Amino acid sequence: TGMFTYDPGFTSTASCDSGLTYIDGDKGILLHRGYPIDQLAEQSSFMEVSYLLLNGELPSKKELEDFTRTITRHTMVHEQLTTFYRGFRRDAHPMAIMCGVVGALSAFYHDSTDINDPEQRKIASHRLIAKMPTIAAMAYKYSVGQPFVYPRNDLSYTANFLNMTFSVPAEEYVIDPVVVDAMDKIFTLHADHEQNASTSTVRLAGSSGANPFACIAAGIACLWGPAHGGANEAALNMLREIGTVDRIPEYIARAKNKDDPFRLMGFGHRVYKNYDPRATVMQKTAKDVLEKLGVNDPIFDVAKELEQIALNDPYFIEKKLYPNVDFYSGVILSAIGFPTEMFTVLFALARTVGWVAQWNEMISDPAQKIGRPRQLYTGPAQRDYVPVEKR
Ligand code: CMC
Repeated sequence: TGMFTYDPGFTSTASCDSGLTYIDGDKGILLHRGYPIDQLAEQSSFMEVSYLLLNGELPSKKELEDFTRTITRHTMVHEQLTTFYRGFRRDAHPMAIMCGVVGALSAFYHDSTDINDPEQRKIASHRLIAKMPTIAAMAYKYSVGQPFVYPRNDLSYTANFLNMTFSVPAEEYVIDPVVVDAMDKIFTLHADHEQNASTSTVRLAGSSGANPFACIAAGIACLWGPAHGGANEAALNMLREIGTVDRIPEYIARAKNKDDPFRLMGFGHRVYKNYDPRATVMQKTAKDVLEKLGVNDPIFDVAKELEQIALNDPYFIEKKLYPNVDFYSGVILSAIGFPTEMFTVLFALARTVGWVAQWNEMISDPAQKIGRPRQLYTGPAQRDYVPVEKR
C-alpha cells in the first residue's frame, strides 16, 4: 500500500500557494506580506495589519479610515443571538461557547454565505472580523453573570472590545491606553501564522464550499487544543502551579522525562527552531505593561527564570525548544484582568483575521480544489461476512 507519500503531521507537505505570511523557522523570522512582525507589532495597529493581510498592501490613511469604518459598522450582533448564549450552562468554557456561537452565525446572516459571490465573501469577512470582539466579550460577560455590553462605535476596535468586556452599567469604565496598546499588540502578534493547524482546518473545511462562518467555527475548534491556541491558557496555569522559582527544576525534570506526558507549555514549535520572534515582542510587552500598571506578579519572575533555565539545559538546546508566542502572553492578559479561560478566546479573536484572509486567498485561487488527503491502509484484507450466531 505504498502508493502515497506518508507524511504524518504534514511536516514536509505544502498544501497551498500563499502570499500572506513567510516564516523562516531556523532564523526566527516572521513576515506578513513582507513586513517583519516586530515592526508591525511595535509601529502598526491591529486594524492596519488586518487590512494588510486581507488586501496585500498597507492602507493609505483614507483606506484605513474607510476600512475601520466598515468594520465598525458591523460590530453589533443580531439581538436574538443573546438567547443563543443563554442556552449554555453558566460554567461553560468560553471556547465551547465560541465554537457554537460562531458556527450559528450562518443561521443569522444568510446574505453572506454565497462563497461564489466576491461581494458576499467580502461582507462575510468584515462581519467575522467585526463581530468577533462582540461575541468574545459576550462569552465573558455570560460566564461572570454580568449584562452584555453593546459595542461603541466611537471607540477603536481594541478599546471597544475592552469596554464590552470590562465595563458594567453601575460605573464608568476608564479605558487605560496602556492596556489598549498592549491588547492591540497581542492581537497583532496573533493575526496570522501561515498553515498552522487551525488555519489548515479552515482551508480544508472551506475547500468543500462550506460557508465562511462554519469554516471559522471549525478553526476555533481546532485552535482550542493545548498543543495549539490552548497553550496560552495551559502555560499560565502551569506557571501558577509552579508558583515559585525554587520549584522550577522539578518541572524541568518532568518535561525531560519521557515517561511523563508533561511538556513545558508555551515552549517549542513545529516551525521555529530558534526564538519565536513573537515571543521576543511579547516578553518586552509583558515587562512594559506590568511596570506601567504597577502590577507585581511573581508569575513573571517564574516565567523569566524558567526560560533561562530551559535555554541553558542540554535537552532544550538539543531539541531546539524556545519560548513561543504563548509563553508570555498570559502574564499580560492576567495583569489586564482576563481569567485564563478567556486566553484562547482572545487568540481566536485575533486569528480570525488570518483565517478569513487565508480562506479568501484559497477561494480566489484557480488551482483550488477540495482537500482530500489519502492514507496508507492498515486494516484487514477483504473477508466474508459471518452471521452473528456463527461468531
Ligand atoms: N516540553 C518538553 N519537551 C518538548 C516540548 C515541550 N514543550 N515540545 C517538544 N518537546 C520534545 C518532544 O517530546 C520531542 O522529543 P523526542 O524527539 O525525544 O520525542 C521533541 O521535542 C519534538 O517534539 P514534537 O512533539 O515531535 O514536535 P512537534 O513539532 O510535533 O510539536 C508543539 C510542536 C508546539 C506541539 C510542541 O512543541 C508542544 O507540545 N509544545 C507545548 C505546547 C505549546 O506551547 N503549543 C503552542 C505552539 S505556538 C502557538 C500555537 O500554535 O498555538
